Amino acid sequence: MPVELCVVPNPLTLNANPGGRRPEKPPSQVDVSSVQSSTDEERHKIDIIDIRDGRQSFNLVPAIRHSLQHRNEDGHRTLPSLLLWNERGLKLFEELTYAPEYYLTNTEIALLEAHSREIAQTIEPGTILLELGSGNLRKIRILLQAIEALGKRVDYYALDLDRNELERTLNQLRTDAGRFRHVRCHGLHGTYDDGQVWIARPENARRPRCVLSLGSTLGSFAPSEAAAFLKMWTDTLQADGGGAAGSFILGLDGCKDGQRVFAAYNDPGGANRRFILNALDSANAHLGHGAFRASDWTVRGEWVDDDDKAKKRRHVQYLAPLKRDVQVTFLHEQHQKPITVRVQKDETVELVSSYKFDEADKERLWEESGLRVASQFFSKDGSYGVCALFSTDRYCNRKPLCLLY
Ligand SMILES: C[S@@+](CC[C@H](N)C(=O)[O-])C[C@H]1O[C@@H](n2cnc3c(N)ncnc32)[C@H](O)[C@@H]1O
Repeated sequence: MPVELCVVPNPLTLNANPGGRRPEKPPSQVDVSSVQSSTDEERHKIDIIDIRDGRQSFNLVPAIRHSLQHRNEDGHRTLPSLLLWNERGLKLFEELTYAPEYYLTNTEIALLEAHSREIAQTIEPGTILLELGSGNLRKIRILLQAIEALGKRVDYYALDLDRNELERTLNQLRTDAGRFRHVRCHGLHGTYDDGQVWIARPENARRPRCVLSLGSTLGSFAPSEAAAFLKMWTDTLQADGGGAAGSFILGLDGCKDGQRVFAAYNDPGGANRRFILNALDSANAHLGHGAFRASDWTVRGEWVDDDDKAKKRRHVQYLAPLKRDVQVTFLHEQHQKPITVRVQKDETVELVSSYKFDEADKERLWEESGLRVASQFFSKDGSYGVCALFSTDRYCNRKPLCLLY
C-alpha cells in the first residue's frame, strides 16, 4: 500500500549563481537529453544506503489530487514542489545552476573557495557530514577538499531523493576531486525525514555530526517553516548526542534586488522553464497516465516584496495554461471514478517559492531554532553566502555550530 511522503519539510528552493563568475562547464555538458544511470561497475563502487522507510517510491498522488482541487490562502491551486526532484528534474536543475543569471551557485562557490579552510578547521575528525538535498555536489567538493587537505578523517553522506543521481554525482565528485585518503563519501537515498531517523541511530549519535544545507535550499520554506525545520534538526542532534556536538553549515540567500532575483529564476536560455515544466511529466509518472500535457502549459515567475512579514521577499513559480483553459483528469482516491479539474486560462498553479532571508529574518530564524551565530562570511554585496558558527545556549556549551548562509 502506498505511503504518502511526509511533506512537512518540503524544501525545494532554486539556487542561483552569482554575477561575475563563469560557469565551470557549459550547460550543454549536463546530459539531460537522456536519463542515464551509472554503469554496473560504477554502481558497485559507490556506497549508497537506502534509508527510505520501507517505501519503494514516494507516492505523491494524494498530494497532487488534493492540491489541484483546493486553493491555498492566496487563492491559488498548487502542486507539490517535490515533483521537481525526479532524476530528470535534478539534471535540469544542474543545468540551471550554470545559467549566468542564476547567481546563487557561483556566489556560494566563491564563498566556499575563499573560506573552506576556515570552515574545515571547525570540523572535528571523525565527524559525520550529512548534506540535506545534496544535488549535484559541485559545491561540497570544495569543502571536502579542504577537509582532506587538513588530513581529517570524516564520513560525508550526500542525502537526496533519486538513487541514480546520487550514483552519478558521487562518481562525478570522485572524478573531479580525485581519490580522497581521509574523506569517505557515501550516498543516502531518502527524504529529510528519513535522514533524521538515520542520523539518530546509536552508531551515528555517538559521533560528531554536522548537517549541511547549501544552495539556499532552506529558502523553499517560509521563514516560520524554516525555523521549525531547523529546530527539529537541532533537537535531534542535541537529544541523543551523548556528549558529541552537533553543528550546521547552511547556505542562504538574502538578495533583495527583485530584478536580480527575477532574472535568476527566469533565465532567457529557458533552463528554469524546462526545469519547472518537468514537474508536469513527473506528475504524470506519479499518476500513471498523461493527465498533464506539457505543451498546454507555461511557466510564470513573480517577485513578491510585500509588507506581510510572514511572506515577504520571495520569488514564486507558477504553472499556467498557455492559451486556453486546461482540463486535468485523474481518478478519485476512494471510488476511482474520474475527476476533472478545469484550470482557467488566466489561473496560475503555484509550484514553488524561494524565500529570501535578510539579516532580520536570519536573526529570527536562529533564535527560533535555538542557534547562535559564531562566525559568518558574506558575499561582496552582503546579500548571500556567509559562514557563521553557531551554538545554542541551551545544549551546546562545548561546540559552536557552523553556519554558512
Ligand atoms: C535547490 S536544490 C539544492 C541542491 C544542492 N544542495 C545545491 O546547493 O545545489 C534542493 C535539493 O534538495 C533535494 N530535496 C528536496 N526536498 C527533499 C526532501 N524532502 N528530502 C530529501 N531531499 C530533498 C532536491 O532533490 C535537491 O537536490
